[in-house]
Amino acid sequence: GVAMAAAMLASSAYAADMTVGFSQIGSESGWRAAETSVTKSEAKKRGVDLKFADAQQKQENQIKAIRTFIAQGVDAILVAPVVATGWDAVLKEAKEAEIPVVLLDRQIDAPDSLYLTAVTSDQVHEGKVAGDWLVKTVGSKACNVVELQGTTGSSPAINRKKGFEQALAGHDNVKIVKSQTGDFTRTKGKEVMESFIKSSNGGKDICALYAHNDDMAVGAIQAIKEAGLKPGTDILVVSIDAVPDIFQAMAKGEANATVELTPNMAGPAFDALEKYKKDKAAPAKWIQTESKLYTQADDPMKVYEEKKGLGY
Ligand code: AHR
Repeated sequence: GVAMAAAMLASSAYAADMTVGFSQIGSESGWRAAETSVTKSEAKKRGVDLKFADAQQKQENQIKAIRTFIAQGVDAILVAPVVATGWDAVLKEAKEAEIPVVLLDRQIDAPDSLYLTAVTSDQVHEGKVAGDWLVKTVGSKACNVVELQGTTGSSPAINRKKGFEQALAGHDNVKIVKSQTGDFTRTKGKEVMESFIKSSNGGKDICALYAHNDDMAVGAIQAIKEAGLKPGTDILVVSIDAVPDIFQAMAKGEANATVELTPNMAGPAFDALEKYKKDKAAPAKWIQTESKLYTQADDPMKVYEEKKGLGY
Protein backbone atom coordinates (compact mmCIF):
# COMPACT_ATOMS: atom_id res chain seq x y z
CA GLY A 1 0.00 0.00 0.00
CA VAL A 2 1.24 3.41 1.03
CA ALA A 3 4.63 2.18 2.27
CA MET A 4 5.32 0.37 -0.97
CA ALA A 5 4.31 3.36 -3.08
CA ALA A 6 6.55 5.55 -0.97
CA ALA A 7 9.43 3.11 -1.36
CA MET A 8 8.94 2.99 -5.12
CA LEU A 9 8.76 6.74 -5.33
CA ALA A 10 11.91 7.03 -3.27
CA SER A 11 13.79 4.59 -5.44
CA SER A 12 12.74 6.25 -8.68
CA ALA A 13 13.16 9.83 -7.54
CA TYR A 14 16.50 9.02 -5.97
CA ALA A 15 17.86 6.69 -8.57
CA ALA A 16 21.33 7.38 -7.23
CA ASP A 17 20.47 6.45 -3.66
CA MET A 18 24.11 6.46 -2.67
CA THR A 19 26.18 7.59 0.24
CA VAL A 20 29.41 9.10 -1.03
CA GLY A 21 32.39 10.33 0.97
CA PHE A 22 34.29 13.29 -0.46
CA SER A 23 37.81 14.03 0.74
CA GLN A 24 38.48 17.59 -0.40
CA ILE A 25 41.93 19.22 -0.25
CA GLY A 26 40.87 22.43 1.46
CA SER A 27 40.00 25.87 0.16
CA GLU A 28 43.26 27.26 -1.21
CA SER A 29 41.69 28.90 -4.27
CA GLY A 30 38.49 30.32 -5.70
CA TRP A 31 38.41 27.37 -8.07
CA ARG A 32 38.62 24.90 -5.17
CA ALA A 33 35.75 26.62 -3.32
CA ALA A 34 33.66 26.42 -6.49
CA GLU A 35 34.44 22.73 -6.93
CA THR A 36 33.26 22.11 -3.35
CA SER A 37 30.02 24.00 -3.86
CA VAL A 38 29.33 22.33 -7.23
CA THR A 39 29.96 18.90 -5.71
CA LYS A 40 27.52 19.61 -2.90
CA SER A 41 24.82 20.84 -5.25
CA GLU A 42 25.32 17.98 -7.73
CA ALA A 43 24.94 15.54 -4.82
CA LYS A 44 21.76 17.24 -3.66
CA LYS A 45 20.29 17.29 -7.15
CA ARG A 46 20.85 13.54 -7.49
CA GLY A 47 19.76 12.54 -4.01
CA VAL A 48 23.29 11.49 -3.09
CA ASP A 49 24.06 11.63 0.62
CA LEU A 50 27.44 13.39 0.59
CA LYS A 51 29.83 13.14 3.52
CA PHE A 52 32.29 16.01 3.20
CA ALA A 53 35.76 16.14 4.76
CA ASP A 54 38.11 19.13 4.42
CA ALA A 55 41.77 18.04 4.70
CA GLN A 56 43.27 21.51 5.25
CA GLN A 57 45.96 20.77 2.60
CA LYS A 58 47.27 17.70 4.46
CA GLN A 59 47.54 14.28 2.84
CA GLU A 60 47.45 12.57 6.24
CA ASN A 61 44.03 14.12 6.87
CA GLN A 62 42.85 12.82 3.51
CA ILE A 63 44.06 9.33 4.32
CA LYS A 64 42.27 9.48 7.68
CA ALA A 65 39.06 10.67 6.03
CA ILE A 66 39.20 7.86 3.47
CA ARG A 67 39.68 5.31 6.27
CA THR A 68 36.68 6.76 8.09
CA PHE A 69 34.57 6.53 4.93
CA ILE A 70 35.60 2.89 4.54
CA ALA A 71 34.68 2.15 8.16
CA GLN A 72 31.30 3.82 7.61
CA GLY A 73 30.71 1.57 4.61
CA VAL A 74 29.98 4.34 2.10
CA ASP A 75 29.00 3.32 -1.46
CA ALA A 76 31.79 5.31 -3.10
CA ILE A 77 34.57 7.76 -2.34
CA LEU A 78 35.58 10.93 -4.17
CA VAL A 79 39.05 12.24 -3.50
CA ALA A 80 40.88 15.30 -4.79
CA PRO A 81 44.43 14.15 -4.03
CA VAL A 82 46.58 17.01 -2.72
CA VAL A 83 49.85 15.42 -3.89
CA ALA A 84 50.55 12.74 -6.50
CA THR A 85 52.37 10.10 -4.42
CA GLY A 86 51.61 8.06 -1.30
CA TRP A 87 48.14 6.73 -2.06
CA ASP A 88 48.69 3.04 -2.71
CA ALA A 89 48.07 1.67 0.79
CA VAL A 90 44.81 3.47 1.51
CA LEU A 91 43.46 2.83 -2.00
CA LYS A 92 44.17 -0.86 -1.55
CA GLU A 93 42.09 -0.77 1.64
CA ALA A 94 39.19 0.79 -0.28
CA LYS A 95 39.56 -1.79 -2.99
CA GLU A 96 39.49 -4.65 -0.49
CA ALA A 97 36.32 -3.15 0.96
CA GLU A 98 34.94 -3.02 -2.61
CA ILE A 99 34.33 0.70 -2.45
CA PRO A 100 34.95 2.43 -5.79
CA VAL A 101 37.14 5.52 -5.64
CA VAL A 102 36.95 8.38 -8.13
CA LEU A 103 39.78 10.90 -8.32
CA LEU A 104 38.75 14.50 -8.83
CA ASP A 105 40.83 17.15 -10.62
CA ARG A 106 44.30 15.80 -9.74
CA GLN A 107 46.07 12.66 -10.83
CA ILE A 108 48.19 10.27 -8.79
CA ASP A 109 51.22 8.03 -9.28
CA ALA A 110 49.62 4.66 -8.56
CA PRO A 111 48.37 1.72 -10.63
CA ASP A 112 45.02 2.63 -12.17
CA SER A 113 43.56 -0.64 -10.89
CA LEU A 114 43.36 1.10 -7.50
CA TYR A 115 40.62 3.51 -8.57
CA LEU A 116 37.52 3.41 -10.75
CA THR A 117 38.24 6.52 -12.80
CA ALA A 118 39.79 9.99 -12.65
CA VAL A 119 37.91 13.11 -13.70
CA THR A 120 40.61 15.64 -14.56
CA SER A 121 41.84 17.97 -17.24
CA ASP A 122 44.96 17.24 -19.23
CA GLN A 123 47.24 19.36 -17.10
CA VAL A 124 50.28 19.08 -19.38
CA HIS A 125 48.07 20.39 -22.17
CA GLU A 126 46.91 23.31 -19.97
CA GLY A 127 50.52 24.36 -19.47
CA LYS A 128 51.16 23.96 -23.17
CA VAL A 129 48.17 26.15 -24.08
CA ALA A 130 49.42 28.87 -21.71
CA GLY A 131 52.95 28.62 -23.10
CA ASP A 132 51.83 28.61 -26.73
CA TRP A 133 49.83 31.75 -26.08
CA LEU A 134 52.87 33.49 -24.61
CA VAL A 135 55.26 32.39 -27.36
CA LYS A 136 52.83 33.63 -29.99
CA THR A 137 52.17 36.90 -28.16
CA VAL A 138 55.81 37.92 -27.67
CA GLY A 139 56.90 36.88 -31.15
CA SER A 140 60.65 37.33 -31.63
CA LYS A 141 61.08 39.67 -28.63
CA ALA A 142 63.31 38.54 -25.74
CA CYS A 143 61.08 37.65 -22.81
CA ASN A 144 62.08 36.74 -19.25
CA VAL A 145 59.33 34.76 -17.57
CA VAL A 146 58.74 34.26 -13.86
CA GLU A 147 56.71 31.25 -12.82
CA LEU A 148 54.50 30.75 -9.78
CA GLN A 149 54.09 27.03 -9.24
CA GLY A 150 51.19 25.31 -7.53
CA THR A 151 51.45 23.09 -4.47
CA THR A 152 54.75 21.20 -4.53
CA GLY A 153 54.26 17.56 -5.48
CA SER A 154 50.70 18.07 -6.77
CA SER A 155 49.94 16.81 -10.26
CA PRO A 156 48.83 20.22 -11.60
CA ALA A 157 52.08 21.84 -10.42
CA ILE A 158 54.21 19.10 -11.99
CA ASN A 159 52.26 18.90 -15.24
CA ARG A 160 51.52 22.57 -15.82
CA LYS A 161 55.25 23.27 -15.51
CA LYS A 162 56.04 20.47 -17.92
CA GLY A 163 53.53 21.56 -20.57
CA PHE A 164 54.62 25.20 -20.40
CA GLU A 165 58.25 24.20 -20.83
CA GLN A 166 57.27 22.09 -23.85
CA ALA A 167 55.72 25.17 -25.43
CA LEU A 168 58.88 27.21 -24.82
CA ALA A 169 61.20 24.57 -26.23
CA GLY A 170 62.82 25.83 -29.42
CA HIS A 171 61.90 29.45 -28.65
CA ASP A 172 65.12 30.59 -27.04
CA ASN A 173 63.96 34.19 -26.75
CA VAL A 174 61.37 33.15 -24.13
CA LYS A 175 62.98 31.90 -20.91
CA ILE A 176 61.85 31.01 -17.40
CA VAL A 177 64.23 32.99 -15.19
CA LYS A 178 62.64 32.37 -11.80
CA SER A 179 60.28 29.69 -10.58
CA GLN A 180 58.91 29.11 -7.11
CA THR A 181 55.84 27.70 -5.43
CA GLY A 182 53.00 29.98 -4.40
CA ASP A 183 50.92 27.09 -3.03
CA PHE A 184 47.96 27.96 -5.30
CA THR A 185 47.02 30.84 -2.93
CA ARG A 186 46.60 34.56 -3.47
CA THR A 187 48.63 35.51 -0.41
CA LYS A 188 51.60 33.37 -1.35
CA GLY A 189 51.33 34.44 -4.99
CA LYS A 190 51.64 38.08 -3.96
CA GLU A 191 54.46 37.41 -1.53
CA VAL A 192 56.57 35.41 -3.99
CA MET A 193 55.92 37.92 -6.79
CA GLU A 194 57.19 40.69 -4.49
CA SER A 195 60.45 38.80 -4.06
CA PHE A 196 60.70 38.12 -7.82
CA ILE A 197 60.25 41.86 -8.45
CA LYS A 198 62.86 42.82 -5.85
CA SER A 199 65.47 40.58 -7.43
CA SER A 200 64.63 41.65 -11.01
CA ASN A 201 65.52 45.34 -11.11
CA GLY A 202 62.23 46.37 -9.49
CA GLY A 203 60.36 44.17 -11.95
CA LYS A 204 61.78 45.91 -15.02
CA ASP A 205 63.60 42.74 -16.08
CA ILE A 206 60.40 40.68 -16.06
CA CYS A 207 58.44 40.39 -19.30
CA ALA A 208 55.79 37.88 -18.26
CA LEU A 209 54.30 35.98 -15.35
CA TYR A 210 53.05 32.43 -15.71
CA ALA A 211 51.00 31.35 -12.68
CA HIS A 212 49.73 27.79 -12.26
CA ASN A 213 46.40 29.21 -11.11
CA ASP A 214 44.43 32.45 -11.33
CA ASP A 215 44.45 33.08 -7.59
CA MET A 216 48.25 33.35 -7.50
CA ALA A 217 48.04 35.58 -10.58
CA VAL A 218 45.55 37.86 -8.81
CA GLY A 219 47.91 38.14 -5.82
CA ALA A 220 50.85 38.80 -8.14
CA ILE A 221 48.92 41.49 -10.05
CA GLN A 222 48.58 43.35 -6.76
CA ALA A 223 52.35 43.06 -6.17
CA ILE A 224 53.07 44.36 -9.68
CA LYS A 225 50.81 47.37 -9.13
CA GLU A 226 52.39 48.12 -5.77
CA ALA A 227 55.79 48.10 -7.47
CA GLY A 228 54.53 50.86 -9.78
CA LEU A 229 54.30 48.70 -12.88
CA LYS A 230 51.31 47.90 -15.09
CA PRO A 231 50.22 44.25 -15.00
CA GLY A 232 49.00 43.10 -18.40
CA THR A 233 51.21 45.64 -20.18
CA ASP A 234 54.63 45.99 -18.48
CA ILE A 235 54.36 42.40 -17.31
CA LEU A 236 52.13 40.01 -19.24
CA VAL A 237 50.02 37.71 -17.05
CA VAL A 238 48.90 34.22 -18.09
CA SER A 239 47.38 31.66 -15.73
CA ILE A 240 44.97 28.75 -15.38
CA ASP A 241 41.42 28.15 -13.99
CA ALA A 242 39.20 30.89 -15.42
CA VAL A 243 37.76 32.05 -12.10
CA PRO A 244 35.52 35.16 -12.17
CA ASP A 245 38.14 37.45 -10.62
CA ILE A 246 40.62 36.89 -13.44
CA PHE A 247 37.99 38.06 -15.96
CA GLN A 248 37.57 41.26 -13.97
CA ALA A 249 41.34 41.71 -14.13
CA MET A 250 41.26 41.00 -17.88
CA ALA A 251 38.51 43.54 -18.39
CA LYS A 252 40.77 46.13 -16.75
CA GLY A 253 43.68 45.06 -18.94
CA GLU A 254 45.58 43.71 -15.92
CA ALA A 255 45.60 40.03 -16.94
CA ASN A 256 46.03 38.68 -20.45
CA ALA A 257 45.01 35.05 -20.73
CA THR A 258 43.69 32.10 -18.76
CA VAL A 259 43.00 28.43 -19.47
CA GLU A 260 39.62 27.24 -18.24
CA LEU A 261 39.24 24.40 -15.75
CA THR A 262 35.65 23.41 -15.00
CA PRO A 263 34.78 23.23 -11.30
CA ASN A 264 32.19 20.60 -12.19
CA MET A 265 34.22 17.44 -11.72
CA ALA A 266 31.48 15.85 -9.60
CA GLY A 267 28.86 15.73 -12.37
CA PRO A 268 30.86 13.32 -14.56
CA ALA A 269 32.00 11.45 -11.42
CA PHE A 270 28.44 10.83 -10.22
CA ASP A 271 27.38 9.88 -13.77
CA ALA A 272 30.12 7.25 -13.86
CA LEU A 273 29.27 5.96 -10.38
CA GLU A 274 25.54 5.71 -11.13
CA LYS A 275 26.24 3.80 -14.31
CA TYR A 276 28.72 1.54 -12.54
CA LYS A 277 26.21 0.82 -9.79
CA LYS A 278 23.42 0.09 -12.25
CA ASP A 279 25.08 -2.14 -14.80
CA LYS A 280 28.56 -2.72 -13.41
CA ALA A 281 29.98 -0.99 -16.47
CA ALA A 282 33.42 0.27 -15.52
CA PRO A 283 34.06 3.69 -17.06
CA ALA A 284 37.27 4.61 -18.87
CA LYS A 285 40.13 5.23 -16.43
CA TRP A 286 40.26 8.88 -17.42
CA ILE A 287 37.33 11.23 -17.97
CA GLN A 288 38.97 14.28 -19.47
CA THR A 289 37.55 17.77 -19.06
CA GLU A 290 38.17 20.59 -21.55
CA SER A 291 40.89 23.26 -21.48
CA LYS A 292 39.77 26.38 -23.29
CA LEU A 293 41.90 29.50 -23.68
CA TYR A 294 40.38 32.91 -22.88
CA THR A 295 42.00 36.24 -23.69
CA GLN A 296 41.02 39.91 -23.39
CA ALA A 297 39.34 39.53 -26.79
CA ASP A 298 36.69 37.20 -25.33
CA ASP A 299 34.45 39.81 -23.69
CA PRO A 300 35.76 39.22 -20.15
CA MET A 301 32.90 40.97 -18.32
CA LYS A 302 30.36 38.78 -20.07
CA VAL A 303 32.28 35.64 -19.12
CA TYR A 304 32.59 37.04 -15.58
CA GLU A 305 28.79 37.29 -15.32
CA GLU A 306 28.30 33.78 -16.72
CA LYS A 307 30.88 32.29 -14.35
CA LYS A 308 29.32 33.92 -11.32
CA GLY A 309 26.36 31.58 -11.43
CA LEU A 310 28.41 28.40 -11.71
CA GLY A 311 29.48 27.68 -8.16
CA TYR A 312 31.66 30.78 -7.79
O1 AHR B 1 43.79 20.71 -9.02
C1 AHR B 1 43.30 21.86 -9.59
C2 AHR B 1 43.97 23.08 -9.04
O2 AHR B 1 43.85 23.13 -7.66
C3 AHR B 1 43.38 24.39 -9.51
O3 AHR B 1 43.85 24.79 -10.74
C4 AHR B 1 43.83 25.30 -8.42
O4 AHR B 1 43.22 26.54 -8.39
C5 AHR B 1 43.44 24.45 -7.28
O5 AHR B 1 43.85 24.86 -6.10
